[in-house]
Amino acid sequence: MHEIRVPATTANLGSGFDCLGVALQLYNHIAFEETDGGLEINILDNVTSGFLPSDERNLIYKAMKFLFDEAGWHPKGLRLNLTNNIPVTRGLGSSSACIAGGLYAANMLMGKKYTQRELLCFAARLEGHSDNTTAAIAGGFTVSVYEKEDIFYYSHPIKDDLKLVLLIPDYVVTTKKARSTLPGYYPLRDVSFNIAHASLLVASLLSGDYENLLCAVDDRIHQPYRKAFIDGYQKIYNKCKNYGALGTYISGSGPTMVSLIEGEDAAFFVEDIREYMQKGYPDWDIRLLDVDNDGIVELA
Ligand code: HSE
Repeated sequence: MHEIRVPATTANLGSGFDCLGVALQLYNHIAFEETDGGLEINILDNVTSGFLPSDERNLIYKAMKFLFDEAGWHPKGLRLNLTNNIPVTRGLGSSSACIAGGLYAANMLMGKKYTQRELLCFAARLEGHSDNTTAAIAGGFTVSVYEKEDIFYYSHPIKDDLKLVLLIPDYVVTTKKARSTLPGYYPLRDVSFNIAHASLLVASLLSGDYENLLCAVDDRIHQPYRKAFIDGYQKIYNKCKNYGALGTYISGSGPTMVSLIEGEDAAFFVEDIREYMQKGYPDWDIRLLDVDNDGIVELA
């Protein structure tokens, strides 16, 4: 069987709505092969096997089928063994990992008919925006522009001097719901605010000079509307700031919150924030992660 691993991703990073993303060292695994007939999907992890579909409705399979149809290629049958470690519907790119992984796997079975750029384009089309899928496929910190069925992107490796602490609530917020709360139009002052902050964010992450991150992750496009879905958002945000976070933002469409931390401060930060969260939000999952700079990797 072939096997790939696909990273979780954190999108937007606050001010980079729909265009900035970072891949994380937290992975789903997809093992796959063509068979003599039928579709067999085995979900091997205990967490998602209870609720993710293991038939034609499975998102990985749907992405594979999309690419097979696009290429006019018809496998006799398929077997997929899936191990999902990325929390679902928490703003950590679980659906993008399925789409990106499914496209990549299908492309492998077809002898790599499509280039990475073409896969990125298909992935953005299926997901509706390019931030998570680009980071999942290319790895690192990614900037992407998806327009008119074409994609322009850049991927930049991030050293382990920058860590991410994920504060993952025990409840879900769907991207559909989180997007439906956003205004259709914004005043010019909010647009220019976000252009300035997202530009500063890109400069900070490319230069490795993190002193402006606290300001740079601030935004007026989505976080002011989405924080209402996160219990205790402001209190938790303030604590993260007091404990030394370089910046804290809502990951993708939420509800996970992410604090960016200087590498050497990470262990202390995690200890402090765990203690705080244990008191008021004991069911949240706190994780310290490094950036994944590889994107999708072929393991077998
Ligand atoms: N950029 C997307 C959003 C990420 O904020 O809605 C979630 O999929």
